[in-house]
Amino acid sequence: MVPDKGIFITIEGPDGAGKSTVIQALKILIEETCKVPLMLTREPGGIEIAEQIREVILNPENTAMDERTEALLYAAARRQHLVQKVLPAIKKNKIVLCDRFVDSSLAYQGAGRDLGIDAVWQINQFAIQNVMPDLTLYLDVPIELGLARIKSGRKASELDRLDQENIEFHLKVREAYISLLKRFPDRMKLIDASLDIETVTLACYNLIKDQFPIYFN
Ligand code: TYD
Repeated sequence: MVPDKGIFITIEGPDGAGKSTVIQALKILIEETCKVPLMLTREPGGIEIAEQIREVILNPENTAMDERTEALLYAAARRQHLVQKVLPAIKKNKIVLCDRFVDSSLAYQGAGRDLGIDAVWQINQFAIQNVMPDLTLYLDVPIELGLARIKSGRKASELDRLDQENIEFHLKVREAYISLLKRFPDRMKLIDASLDIETVTLACYNLIKDQFPIYFN
């Protein structure tokens, strides 16, 4: 059977979960076995207007940024990315694999910044108009391990404004993700990202393939 619509898959996790590496490895596996084209993208960014917003949000010099401003900028970037890139690709039967989406705002701004998960959910509803991923892979990693991975991979001068947050911030983010897993059990799936990259990638791949078998050879 040939699928008549694309699918929207998001990858989430605390900093240092290894999302970017897993996504690159997943891309190879999916492209080898999938019947429809794959489109990789990321938030905040993915297209010119949203990349410009991303620069403002993540610029380490923007220390004066208000927390609600930050949440609204993420939602604005999300809106533009969704309408300009994600929805057209789904319409063209593609598998869209997106690095972060609304759950990141719920976890980072809602919990990390203490704006409240429900308040952040509401402003995001204006942006996404009920468009939610078909599947969200949540790469879970203990905060200490995540931060150690970031530190070993980058120089301190390369850390962005959010990487530099304190441990409490990251703990709140992870706790929020775990609460979201309970809130959205059908959509969100837990993956133990403290394991090696091959195991994590394969776990992600198997979840996608099991959930959407008609897209694969
Ligand atoms: P990203 O580029 O995915 O970085 P990383 O590779 O560290 O995951 O995201 C940059 C930062 O933006 C990351 O710390 C999470 C944060 N973020 C939010 O706080 N809210 C959001 O809605 C999104 C999409 C990202």
